[in-house]
Amino acid sequence: MVGWLTRVAGASGVTEEMVLPVLGAKEFVAGAPLQLGLAPGDVVAVPELAYPTYGVGVALAGCTVTTYATPRDLVRSDARPALVWLNSPSNPDGAVWSPEETAELVAWARSAGTLVVSDECYLEFGWEDQPVSVLDPRVHGGDLTGLLAVHSESKRSNAAGYRLATVSGDAALVRELLDIRRNVGLIMPTPQQRVLTALVADDEHVRRQREVYARRRALLRGALEGAGFVIARSTGGLYLWAALADGTPDPAAHLAARGILAVPGRPTAPRGRGFVRVALTVNDRDVQRVVDRLAEG
Ligand SMILES: Cc1ncc(COP(=O)(O)O)c(C=O)c1O
Repeated sequence: MVGWLTRVAGASGVTEEMVLPVLGAKEFVAGAPLQLGLAPGDVVAVPELAYPTYGVGVALAGCTVTTYATPRDLVRSDARPALVWLNSPSNPDGAVWSPEETAELVAWARSAGTLVVSDECYLEFGWEDQPVSVLDPRVHGGDLTGLLAVHSESKRSNAAGYRLATVSGDAALVRELLDIRRNVGLIMPTPQQRVLTALVADDEHVRRQREVYARRRALLRGALEGAGFVIARSTGGLYLWAALADGTPDPAAHLAARGILAVPGRPTAPRGRGFVRVALTVNDRDVQRVVDRLAEG
């Protein structure tokens, strides 16, 4: 398992006690603020355009959310959160933060006493930009204190049904999490651990799946652009974040009228208005149907 992390995150010096198996990233995202000891009154910083479960975890712990558009905005703000969620490549908009920007955020978090939990479940899916892990020495400078990274086999191995993910980083935090999770029945069952061990030992299936996504992405991107859409960010991850160039306010309805289902950007955040999230996770036959329907106009 540790060899896998060294490959995925470029992390050196990662040992077994720095890796905790969890029952899917979602389970951990929803439980992290509570399990990390946050309490009502604590503030959690979450990306403005974000996977909704960060907010669920904050609500379960009775904490307060503050949002940020980019890590640099957060660093330059007056916010002093107890925890910051990073997500690069991002769901929903595929934004990828550079090593410099990520390192800057980590340095700022250290000086503010803020924990950084980086949801890196799309880490293997960098397209125009290469995502970086918080476990990368370029980001943490040799000190993992206060840093955790979340990786998911749902994404890396296209194995969502098995509920397999890991949390790695600061050994003291991992130990604390293990103690708490042991007492609330969240230890991964042995059959799941065996599947996890097999998947992290193999990179070939990840490489093949990446090719599948790259192909779908090229097809969908071309078809959307041909149908009047512009693609924003989306330089990594498993989604295309798209808006109609003519400013049509509800592109999800525009697609629905053509028999194409995409997630509207608006419910995620006001900044999502006018955008849709198109997933690369549908099967090849449905991707071709989308391409054909967009071509029909
Ligand atoms: C950003 C992000 N984090 C976590 C998850 C959950 O992943 P898992 O299937 O491992 O629970 C998702 C799934 O869509 C996601 O987009």
